[in-house]
Amino acid sequence: MAQTPVINIKNLSYRYDRNNVLENIQLTVPKGAFLGLVGPNGSGKSTLLKLILGLLKVKEGEIQLFGQPQEKFKEWDQIGYVSQKANSFNTGFPATVYEVVASGLTKKIGLFKYVGTKEKEEIKKAIAAVGMEDFLQRNIGELSGGQQQRVFIARAIVSKPELLILDEPTVGIDSKNVKSFYDMLAFLNKDMGITLLLVTHDIGIVSDKVTHVACLNKFLHFHGSMQQFERLDEQDISQLYGHGIHLLDHNHDH
Ligand SMILES: Nc1ncnc2c1ncn2[C@@H]1O[C@H](COP(=O)(O)OP(=O)(O)OP(=O)(O)O)[C@@H](O)[C@H]1O
Ligand SMILES: [Mg+2]
Repeated sequence: MAQTPVINIKNLSYRYDRNNVLENIQLTVPKGAFLGLVGPNGSGKSTLLKLILGLLKVKEGEIQLFGQPQEKFKEWDQIGYVSQKANSFNTGFPATVYEVVASGLTKKIGLFKYVGTKEKEEIKKAIAAVGMEDFLQRNIGELSGGQQQRVFIARAIVSKPELLILDEPTVGIDSKNVKSFYDMLAFLNKDMGITLLLVTHDIGIVSDKVTHVACLNKFLHFHGSMQQFERLDEQDISQLYGHGIHLLDHNHDH
């Protein structure tokens, strides 16, 4: 029997005011997948994530999380989220990398509870998983945008979620560091077994990392495996995506 999908969306439509932003979305994310969600600005990507996360209320259609109807779902610590605006976090706030990541456990252990040896280990492991172990005591404000983004991911994975949702995490990361950032995401997916849902404009760069692609522009125009996506020709892609996108040949460095 097929495994219960991590996310299962049926007939989902959404509007803020008059016009639909999402229309009749069907989307399944299997356990262990790395789904790249692409679409032009304003196509409803962040809205879809907020609906999945319960930050916006589903009015039409249905979302199931780990096989449960979303309105009954309670295990929110199984889902990590880094929002599109995470990097506008007040980084003048005097907190170290260690403290920022530790704050990701407060849901589990409570804000002022004692952080035991086990939790300390988990915090250090999460920081190592994003390659920031040399910066434990560094103030968050003294890191580059890309390094801060890694710390926010460590904060999101410290409670060991099954699913990690990332909304354009590479904004502000230069192209040289974007690749190693995606290598880190591939590590979380493959080696740590975390299911990933990534909103990205860099589908060409992650094409060798993602297992599935979904193209959204109010409607879900395409949803399938990376292999199926790569078989689409350029005309199909520009129709799906709204305009042409660059599928880099990831076997070569540009
Ligand atoms: N709080 C809101 N109230 C009213 N309309 C909104 C609100 N948030 C988003 N919208 C509108 O909904 C549409 C989809 O927005 P959304 O943020 O989901 O797009 P997106 O695909 O994430 O875009 P981007 O790539 O720019 O992040 C846009 O037309 C936007 O103007
Ligand atoms: Mg968005």
